[in-house]
Amino acid sequence: MAIELSPVDVRGEDREALVEFLTSGPWPFHVRTRPTREQVDGDIDGGRYDDAEALWALADGTRIGLAVLEDVGDDTPTLDPRLVPAVRGRGLGLQVLRAVTDHVFTDHPTARRLEAMTREDNVPMRRALLRAGFVKEAHHRESWANGGTIPVDWDDLVV
Ligand SMILES: CC(C)(COP(=O)(O)OP(=O)(O)OC[C@H]1O[C@@H](n2cnc3c(N)ncnc32)[C@H](O)[C@@H]1OP(=O)(O)O)[C@@H](O)C(=O)NCCC(=O)NCCS
Repeated sequence: MAIELSPVDVRGEDREALVEFLTSGPWPFHVRTRPTREQVDGDIDGGRYDDAEALWALADGTRIGLAVLEDVGDDTPTLDPRLVPAVRGRGLGLQVLRAVTDHVFTDHPTARRLEAMTREDNVPMRRALLRAGFVKEAHHRESWANGGTIPVDWDDLVV
C-alpha cells in the first residue's frame, strides 16, 4: 500500500474530522484514553496544535491514522502516531513511521533526531520503532502520569 502524509487543517476544514478521529478511541496507551469532544475542542482552541505539525496518514488514499509532530523547528522533533484500530497489526504502523521519518529529515532541515516515547507495554509501538531504525535511549521509571514504578529490563525486546 502506498502511504502518504497530508497536513491536517486543524483550525479549518479538518477540525471536525480531527475531533471525530480523536474521540473514536479508545487510546489505551495515551494519558487520555477516551478524550471527549469538549477536551479535543479545548485543546484546539487552547493552541495545542498551533506549534505542532499534524498529519493524516493515508493508505492508498484512505485515512488510516494521524501523526502529530511537536517541536518541528527544533533539532529534536517528537512524534505521536495513532492508527485507527481496524488497520493495526498489518505492518502499516511501520510504514507510517518510515514515511514520517522521511518527511522530518527531508522537510525540516533543523531536525537532527526524531524522538518518540511510549509505555513499556506498548509492544506494537516499540517493535515498529525498532524496525523503523529508532534506537532506545532511555527508560523512564516514573514519567507515566497514571502509574507507579516498574523494574527496568533494558534489553527486554530484541528484533
Ligand atoms: C503503535 C502503532 C502505530 C503500531 O502500528 P501497527 O500497524 O499496529 O504495527 P505494525 O503492524 O506495523 O507492527 C509493528 C510491529 O509490532 C508487532 N505487533 C503488532 N501488533 C502487535 C500486537 N498486538 N502484539 C504484539 N506485537 C504486535 C508486529 O509484529 C511488528 O513487529 P515485527 O516487525 O517485529 O514482527 C498502532 O498499533 C497504533 O496506532 N496503536 C494505538 C496508538 C498508539 O499506541 N500510539 C503510540 C503512542 S506512543
